[in-house]
Amino acid sequence: MSSRAAAEGASDDAASLVELFPRGTTVDERGLVIAGCAATDLARTYATPTLVIDESALRQRARAYASGLARRWANSRVVWASKSLPCTAVYRVMAEEGLGVDVAGGGELVMALAAGVEPSRLVLHGNAKTDTEMAMALAAGVGTIVVDNADDVERLERLATGEQGVLVRVTPGVRPATHAAISTGQAASKFGFGLADAPRVIERLRASRRLRLDGLHVHIGSQILETEPFERAVEALAPLGEFGTYDLGGGLGARYTYDDHPPTIEEYLDALVGAARRVLPPTAQLLIEPGRSMIAETGVTLYTVVSVKENGGTTFVAVDGGMGDNLEVSLYGQRFEATVATRIGGGATYTVVGRHCESGDQLIDGVALRDPKVGDVLAVPVTGAYCLTMANNYNGALRPPIVFASEGASRAVLRRETYDDLVARDL
Ligand SMILES: Cc1ncc(COP(=O)(O)O)c(C=O)c1O
Repeated sequence: MSSRAAAEGASDDAASLVELFPRGTTVDERGLVIAGCAATDLARTYATPTLVIDESALRQRARAYASGLARRWANSRVVWASKSLPCTAVYRVMAEEGLGVDVAGGGELVMALAAGVEPSRLVLHGNAKTDTEMAMALAAGVGTIVVDNADDVERLERLATGEQGVLVRVTPGVRPATHAAISTGQAASKFGFGLADAPRVIERLRASRRLRLDGLHVHIGSQILETEPFERAVEALAPLGEFGTYDLGGGLGARYTYDDHPPTIEEYLDALVGAARRVLPPTAQLLIEPGRSMIAETGVTLYTVVSVKENGGTTFVAVDGGMGDNLEVSLYGQRFEATVATRIGGGATYTVVGRHCESGDQLIDGVALRDPKVGDVLAVPVTGAYCLTMANNYNGALRPPIVFASEGASRAVLRRETYDDLVARDL
């Protein structure tokens, strides 16, 4: 049994389950303990649903990425993909850890600036950046703008008043094994320029007076569980010529379930930088943009069980959240695991459902739980990425708070929405 699950009476399956929680998670007589804080205490203090982030685990991953990349390729920078958890406090952590930040649009830009991220360390993305967003980025002094289409070039040339660094996003024709909705590098993607079209925009940017072409960008998708597609994407860039900067995107997968075995950060960097060494100029600057793999495994959502009901042979455990705080399940079919916070591990099989008015509002289709009862706290690990990002007010649900836990202490960094918030925009 892992020392992390060295609880009296904890079974082997409990030990494997605890492995899915953030690194600092243990089990003791209080049940599940995240970063030194009992899950039941967190639920009592902040109510549920609540997204808990293990802050130390997050900082460790930021450092693992930054030092791992710098060790392999000195002229490099890690740029956190902030769409994975757009919350000012998280931007601040990344800035404190010395990372750059990728923002897709005006909203993420505002949050990054509010957190004090140095504008020159920002990379602006988007396949439909408006005039307003471009102007905001130019006024803020965003270091890099990624050109996704010819209209971006026209817009930037019209709006820029000084020199602006840009990268060209290339679609390398690589289709990784992931859900179609989060695959972006295939031919006929809505993102970037295909390999045949890229030379034309490169030529145009080289002739631009205002826009300084720094290099190329590639991002092939998300939740990718093997290294080979990343290598193919890097190799696809080589025939386009030599550039000063290559942004190789994000995409490394997270371990959501027992069966997922994503490459480690080290294995991923070995493969990616290995490919860069083979085909890219040795003096170039390398950027990477991890999102999901930075943050997913540092987050846990705590729910309260509202109802346990048998119907037609299935026993449903209904919780006080669901599609309002986790769309990963219904959008991408993502599988999650879970445990009752005070009875770790499995027993009979239950279907965990949310509180929203559709049958598709299922959090987990069949998970082994130990005797779940009304009022229990249910903990779902690996919810740090893209869950809060896509949180919504379906059925008037209030978007959950974010709580940072670290070394036995906790603090809310984003409050729960209130019913007043729901009517605050009414005119
Ligand atoms: C341009 C770009 N970079 C980086 C990322 C981060 O990807 P991931 O969260 O899978 O690491 C995304 C996510 O879709 C993206 O669109």
